Amino acid sequence: MSLVSFTLLALSLVGARAASVSANASADVGNSTVDMVSAAWYAGWHSTNFTLSNVTWDKYTHMTYSFAVTTPDVTQISLNGSDPELLPQFVQTAQKNGVKALVSVGGWTGSLYYSTNVGSADNRTAFVKTVTDFATKYNLDGIDFDWEYPNNQGIGCNAISANDTSNFLSFLQELRQDPVGSKLFLTAATPITPWNGPDGTSISDVSGFANALDYIAIMNYDINGAWSTAVAANAPLNDTCAPTANQAGSAVSAIAAWEAAGMPSHQIVLGVPSYGHSFHVQVEDAFYCDDNGDDNGVLASFPPFDKTQQPLGDAWDDTAGVDVCGNPAPQGGNFDFWGLIDGGFLNANGTVADGIFYRYDECSQTPYVYNETSEVMIAFDDATSFAAKGDFIKTSNLRGFAMWEAGGDSNDILLDSIRKAAGFEDADDDDC
Ligand SMILES: *[C@@H]1O[C@H](CO)[C@@H](O)[C@H](O)[C@H]1NC(C)=O
Ligand SMILES: *[C@@H]1O[C@H](CO)[C@@H](O)[C@H](O)[C@H]1NC(C)=O
Ligand SMILES: *[C@@H]1O[C@H](CO)[C@@H](O)[C@H](O)[C@H]1NC(C)=O
Ligand SMILES: *[C@@H]1O[C@H](CO)[C@@H](O)[C@H](O)[C@H]1NC(C)=O
Ligand SMILES: *[C@@H]1O[C@H](CO)[C@@H](O)[C@H](O)[C@H]1NC(C)=O
Ligand SMILES: *[C@@H]1O[C@H](CO)[C@@H](O)[C@H](O)[C@H]1NC(C)=O
Ligand SMILES: *[C@@H]1O[C@H](CO)[C@@H](O)[C@H](O)[C@H]1NC(C)=O
Ligand SMILES: *[C@@H]1O[C@H](CO)[C@@H](O)[C@H](O)[C@H]1NC(C)=O
Ligand SMILES: *[C@@H]1O[C@H](CO)[C@@H](O)[C@H](O)[C@H]1NC(C)=O
Ligand SMILES: *[C@@H]1O[C@H](CO)[C@@H](O)[C@H](O)[C@H]1NC(C)=O
Repeated sequence: MSLVSFTLLALSLVGARAASVSANASADVGNSTVDMVSAAWYAGWHSTNFTLSNVTWDKYTHMTYSFAVTTPDVTQISLNGSDPELLPQFVQTAQKNGVKALVSVGGWTGSLYYSTNVGSADNRTAFVKTVTDFATKYNLDGIDFDWEYPNNQGIGCNAISANDTSNFLSFLQELRQDPVGSKLFLTAATPITPWNGPDGTSISDVSGFANALDYIAIMNYDINGAWSTAVAANAPLNDTCAPTANQAGSAVSAIAAWEAAGMPSHQIVLGVPSYGHSFHVQVEDAFYCDDNGDDNGVLASFPPFDKTQQPLGDAWDDTAGVDVCGNPAPQGGNFDFWGLIDGGFLNANGTVADGIFYRYDECSQTPYVYNETSEVMIAFDDATSFAAKGDFIKTSNLRGFAMWEAGGDSNDILLDSIRKAAGFEDADDDDC
């Protein structure tokens, strides 16, 4: 089958639903670029600093408000902590701009009760009503399911069951049968390998999910961080070229895993981060030493770091505290892209600041910066790595991208880069 006819077939499979719910996708079925997804999550708890008017709406097709968290009561999901009062205005503003407004249910701290909410036939029916009532109340275009993770403990106190993934699918199928649910745009934020089956390993067939969902957004970030054994990329594009010990996953391996399990490429959106993770790396470990024992100012790959000295990230970083499970949580160490600029690592235009060391890792296709005085190293994404991810989206025929989070960028440096490389019409040229 030729690439063109494959694309046409692929689009016709999703065409009916996509056309009815996505204004920008319906115009020209057969042209894959008009059907593509340019999305981000909007974190409700950052709304006072990244307001609705901070969003460049005409560069997006979908925007997902985060989070509605699961609760012990299957009849309730809660926007507690995510500025509930703003949601109606968010939906109105998105729709006024031709952008689909979704709400994400779950997240790292909000998935405690997913398992029980879909844990029996009665609960699934009740949860379908909860979700559809919520969507109706707020006039949503869609719902994003961010269950972290089925039959795989996430934050530490989630209910989990061997049957989580099949119960999740049964729930989605019932939601699709519902008159409200059938009209919603349904997406899922997923780990880099398919969800766990009863034996705790990835299921081998996700075709049921492909039928129930419009698309999945693969969260190809937090692949490495404070929990890793060495400094490594937050969001590797590739890792097959990395040393075996450092192959923690990547966009390349994630797409391969989901496609092998039956998720078509045109239903895969690549999740991309507008932030990086910081590490404390001693100067003697930070540089690559050549045969003469000279470092030449070149940063080392995969240097060790000191876990006892986790740097604090930018103003949005989590300070040390207690998590939703009641367990002590250290400070996060996250730097948003704007935070790297604020922190003096990057210039306002996103290039590396004077006095900061920079390395672009050719395997993960992501950058690192290092301040040798503070001994802070940050593995992050910049315009160059976002262009590489955009190219990959295009050459892999993926549906598009979804950025966590909209507010992490600075002057759309990342957004513009990935849109251009992935083949979106340059929004800045629209007026010409
Ligand atoms: C989609 O349509 C646009 C505008 O008509 C065109 O420039 C672009 O080449 C088309 N892309 C594909 C993949 O057909
Ligand atoms: C958020 O914005 C407010 C006022 O605009 C400011 O006082 C505050 O420091 C900001 N907080 C963060 C975390 O950036
Ligand atoms: C939001 O926009 C305001 C006004 O242009 C700007 O000062 C602020 O830095 C922006 N906030 C973020 C997080 O980008
Ligand atoms: C909202 O969450 C906070 C803690 O994050 C909690 O103390 C409070 O009771 C919650 N409020 C409601 C209405 O659930
Ligand atoms: C989608 O279409 C609407 C008009 O229907 C337009 O205002 C908006 O800019 C378009 N968005 C994108 C990302 O092309
Ligand atoms: C169904 O939901 C209720 C709470 O609404 C919960 O107590 C119960 O354990 C759930 N059932 C299953 C099988 O998970
Ligand atoms: C999982 O589902 C199977 C088949 O429906 C059932 O026999 C089993 O008891 C369930 N296990 C759990 C832990 O709910
Ligand atoms: C990933 O790395 C392998 C070599 O290990 C290479 O063959 C492949 O082209 C790379 N893929 C991308 C998208 O960079
Ligand atoms: C590196 O960190 C030190 C100590 O925090 C700081 O004083 C210095 O300005 C930073 N260097 C650059 C180039 O930002
Ligand atoms: C980015 O900003 C720096 C510092 O202001 C400047 O030296 C550099 O020329 C700028 N680069 C580009 C590509 O605009």
